[in-house]
Amino acid sequence: MSKNVVILGAQWGDEGKGKLVDLLTDQVKAVVRFQGGHNAGHTVVVNGKKTILHLLPSGILHSGVANYIGSGVVLSPAALIEEIKGLKEQGVDVNGRLYISDACSLLLPYHAIFDQAKEKAMGEGAIGTTGRGIGPAYVDKVARTGLRASDLADTEQFIDKFTEVFEYYNFILQNYYGVPALDFKQMLDKILITAETIVPLLTDVPAKLSEHYKKGDNILFEGAQGTFLDIDHGTYPFVTSSNTVAGAASVGSGFGMLYIDYVLGITKSYATRVGAGPFPTELTDDVGAGLAERGDEFGATTRRARRCGWLDIALLRRSVLLNSITALGITKLDVLDGMETIKICVGYKLHGKNIDLSPSTLKAFKACEPIYEEFPGWKESTSGIKLFNELPQAAKNYLKRIEELSGVRIALVATGQDRADVIMLENPFA
Ligand code: GDP
Ligand code: IMO
Ligand code: MG
Repeated sequence: MSKNVVILGAQWGDEGKGKLVDLLTDQVKAVVRFQGGHNAGHTVVVNGKKTILHLLPSGILHSGVANYIGSGVVLSPAALIEEIKGLKEQGVDVNGRLYISDACSLLLPYHAIFDQAKEKAMGEGAIGTTGRGIGPAYVDKVARTGLRASDLADTEQFIDKFTEVFEYYNFILQNYYGVPALDFKQMLDKILITAETIVPLLTDVPAKLSEHYKKGDNILFEGAQGTFLDIDHGTYPFVTSSNTVAGAASVGSGFGMLYIDYVLGITKSYATRVGAGPFPTELTDDVGAGLAERGDEFGATTRRARRCGWLDIALLRRSVLLNSITALGITKLDVLDGMETIKICVGYKLHGKNIDLSPSTLKAFKACEPIYEEFPGWKESTSGIKLFNELPQAAKNYLKRIEELSGVRIALVATGQDRADVIMLENPFA
């Protein structure tokens, strides 16, 4: 029987989803991206060789596995082609293993220009987006004015629709944001060329996933961003423009929600965030700088420095309930090696009261003060350890405490960047 697993970020992104998707792909016949766009940066390291994936699902390095881009993704044809080209140069041919939903909304160059112009105009209040045009592309989708991947198959119709949207952006960009006029023909020609590559990859993703299901194939759904960047449930407005929670796996791929068996929530052994927005456990001192250095905390997409802090269980508890997390994947345990003491935020003080679940409004969240539990660290290296029993006792205690506090068991613990650096306590596909 088919077993279907969602892997998603339980924090603010960059939890190491790509690594774990790649690791578990050897047990599936299909990997599906269901939201976000090329704002994502998913790192996969195999035998020391690093690949960063943005739009391509992180199962793409395995032969014999179908990789799908679902309709919940905003697709930049140019970014996808660039990524396909990059992989080809590394000797990975996506031919015959990549399929795109014909219902994907297109992310076109004016979206990125708009995103950047808006962020610039917002100044201090900016969200700190990736500047890729994600927000504007979803705006067009929801406003029902956007172009879809299927439109690329009909040039005449594409030009009609494109002309209308182009004129709108060109007007707003010039008259509201003071951006120089866009060149219609240059932009259109560049987009039309992409049809040659994109159109042959288009397919009816829901129908394909249903075929996999009926055949008994396992399917892996790969989340991008993280729970607290969710447009509804995240720290709005400091969020991305898609739903990132587990429910989006069904919506953004067209796979019935009752066929999903398991949700693996990924969290680092500490916390990071890129871009603006509240972060109660943020460390702006040397301890935070040490985590950033040892964890190489620079964005995989924009290379921006990631903000670092302690693991936050009040947030993790909310993540568990929002996503119905079955089990946790803890990554970057090795980054804590050598620390004198480690702290976990076990709840918050809010207006004089102790609470154990992060609040739902930004105002209350901003007012929260973390309550910490302190642990002795460990001196030994955990790098590359594959068996739980080989971990230092203090590391075992730390992991056990995360299970107790979050109320969820741990399935996997990552101890290094490489695919092989992992402790598997429970196989999500078993
Ligand atoms: P994603 O967006 O969730 O796929 O995560 P990113 O790729 O943006 O960021 C995670 C970073 O941590 C990448 O550089 C990974 O190679 C790295 N990484 C993942 N797991 C581990 C781990 O257990 N230890 C260490 N040291 N690095 C890890
Ligand atoms: P992965 O999949 C971390 C953040 C941006 C910004 C906010 C909105 O690699 O975990 P956007 O460009 O989406 O409109 O930016 O969301 N953000 C991410 N942070 N990891 C990501 O993806 C992110 N994708 C977007 O930094 O704060
Ligand atoms: Mg990332």
